[in-house]
This record gives sequence, C-alpha cells and structure tokens, in this order.
Amino acid sequence: MDIATRYLGLHLKSPIVASSSGLTDSVKKVKTLEECGVGAVVLKSIFEEEILFEHEDIMKEAEAAGVNLDQFDYLDFQLRGEKLNKYIELIKESKAATSLPIIASINCAYSHEWISFAEQIQGAGADAIELNMFFLPSDFSRSGQEQETMYFKIIEKLLSTVSIPIALKISYYFSNLGQMIQRLSKTGVSGLVLFNRFFSPDIDIDKLTIKSSFVLSSPEELAISLRWIAIMANKVDCDLAASTGAHDGAAVIKQLLAGAKAVQVASTLYKHGTEYIRDMHDTLNAWMEKHGYNSLADFRGKMSQEKASNPAAYERVQFMKYFN
Ligand SMILES: Cc1cc2nc3c(=O)[nH]c(=O)nc-3n(C[C@H](O)[C@H](O)[C@H](O)COP(=O)(O)O)c2cc1C
Repeated sequence: MDIATRYLGLHLKSPIVASSSGLTDSVKKVKTLEECGVGAVVLKSIFEEEILFEHEDIMKEAEAAGVNLDQFDYLDFQLRGEKLNKYIELIKESKAATSLPIIASINCAYSHEWISFAEQIQGAGADAIELNMFFLPSDFSRSGQEQETMYFKIIEKLLSTVSIPIALKISYYFSNLGQMIQRLSKTGVSGLVLFNRFFSPDIDIDKLTIKSSFVLSSPEELAISLRWIAIMANKVDCDLAASTGAHDGAAVIKQLLAGAKAVQVASTLYKHGTEYIRDMHDTLNAWMEKHGYNSLADFRGKMSQEKASNPAAYERVQFMKYFN
C-alpha cells in the first residue's frame, strides 16, 4: 500500500506524525521514531518564555558584570542564548541522523519578539516550523477581535521572516471557529493543526491544591478534531493535520477519511510505546487492502462534510433523538 502523503509541501512516507512532546526532544528518540516508520517529527517546542527569560537573565548578568549594554548587541544575545543553541543543535543533529522531515516547534504565548529566532531555526535546516499559539481568553478587558488580531500580526511577522513552511497549531477557543480557521488558512501558512490539547488544572480536594488534570488524552477526545477536519476539508487554503485523541489505526483512518493530510499522535505513543506506530500502520494497510484502496488519495476526504451523504450530521449538536 502506498501510504505516502504530502504535508506542508513535504513528502511524508506515512501520514502518522509524532506530535511535539517529550517523545521528540532528543536525537535518539527521533531516530527511534524513524525506525518505527513515522512520517515526520514535530520536535518538542521551544517556549517563547524560555527565549525571552533567558534574554532577560543574560542582560542582567551583563549589567552586573559592568558590560556597557549599548555595546551588548543583539548578536551577543543570539550567540549566548543557550536554550536556543541547544534547540538548534537538536534540529541539526536530527536532520543529520535521519531522513525524516523535521518540523521545529515554537510555543508562542504573547509577543512576537522572539520571531527573529525563527531565522536561526530555519538556518539549522528545519523543514518547517509549527507555531503553537494560544492566549487563554481570560483577559476580560480584551475583545475577541483584539485577541484574534494578535494571531494575524504574529503570523504576518513570521511569514516575512522565514521562507520555510509554517504550520499553526491552534485551539478551538474562537467565537466563530470555522471562519477563523478559514481566515488563518488564507494568511500564507502551509498548514493548520486541529487541535492542540492543553495543560488543564484540577483541584486536589484533600490537599486543597491545584494539580494537573489528565496529561494524556483519551480516545474519546478524537471527536472534536474529527468534526472540524471534516467540516473544514476543502474549505481552506492550506493543509489540515489532525491532532488530539488519535489512539489507534482506526482513528488515523477516520481522520484521513475526514480530509486530514497528516495525523499527529503523542498520548498513544506514551501509553503503548513508539513501536505502536507499526501497529497503526498494520491497521491502515489492512483496511486499505480490504476496501481496495491503493493510496491515501483514493479515500482521503471521502467522509468530509462536503462529500458525505449526510453532511448535516457534522453540525448536529443536540442529542434530541437519544432523549426521546
Ligand atoms: C507530555 C506532553 C508534552 C507535550 N509537549 C508539547 C509541546 O512542547 N509543544 C506542543 O505543541 N504540544 C505539546 N504537547 C501536546 C501534544 O503535541 C498533542 O497536541 C496533545 O498531546 C494531543 O495529542 P494526543 O491526543 O495524540 O496526545 C505535549 C503533550 C504531552 C502529553
């Protein structure tokens, strides 16, 4: 079976992509992922805060050492950014040690001051950049429009800085999600990843402390991403990658049927080990054989809202019949 796909203009041997996580933070792990047949790897994110806080530390250190800050130019800052340097090394080494497409990941929290670092990431040989951008809509003084404008500003700046493909990993916290996805797809980004899954707080009722809720996703969480991949397939100007809740080969098939170009996985690899990618491929291959499909193009998007025999099902939100 030919399970190759094109995502972000890159050739992927498989549609299964290792999501950005602790499973993609070293060359050794990236090599293992390649051995298990993954199509591409999104490296563990470098966080905007890490870059900027390090900048602040370096400036304070320099000031304390009596360095004339006017002379302490941008280049020093760039050369001394240890976290960034390590990240650059990870990209270079992953590229040298594998033939996989390597997608670097930047986690962006609130500004665009770090964007110049994207040039270094590009220079290190990353095939693409995935921008993980999320501002929790908890600032009551900021309107929805102001909130959304920040996304477009950052994307515009990034696109004018680098020439490698950019993917945007987003959440579903937008007032008009479909329109926002469509508008984002027209900015010049090469792909949208639907959706990110966030750290969520939980309360320890004995210790009265705030703890982390489930770190890993469950298979039921596939539904949100599946619905929106299906609704948006063929209605956007870029590739769509599915993320969250894809735990087995069947989930990968569903997302491809919905219209995804690639399916990102993290939790299932944490649960079952990296080798589980082989199992997912076996399921995909066996299913394609059973249905007489030779390549992903034979069935991709066949169950998208546009092509499905019952498109309204993707927009049904109430359980009316079940209650009756
Ligand atoms: C331990 C862990 C670390 C993660 N680190 C990152 C990260 O650095 N950057 C990022 O964009 N997503 C990160 N994620 C989110 C995953 O990339 C993915 O979007 C999320 O786990 C949902 O996919 P899944 O259901 O296949 O796990 C992390 C997830 C886990 C479980």
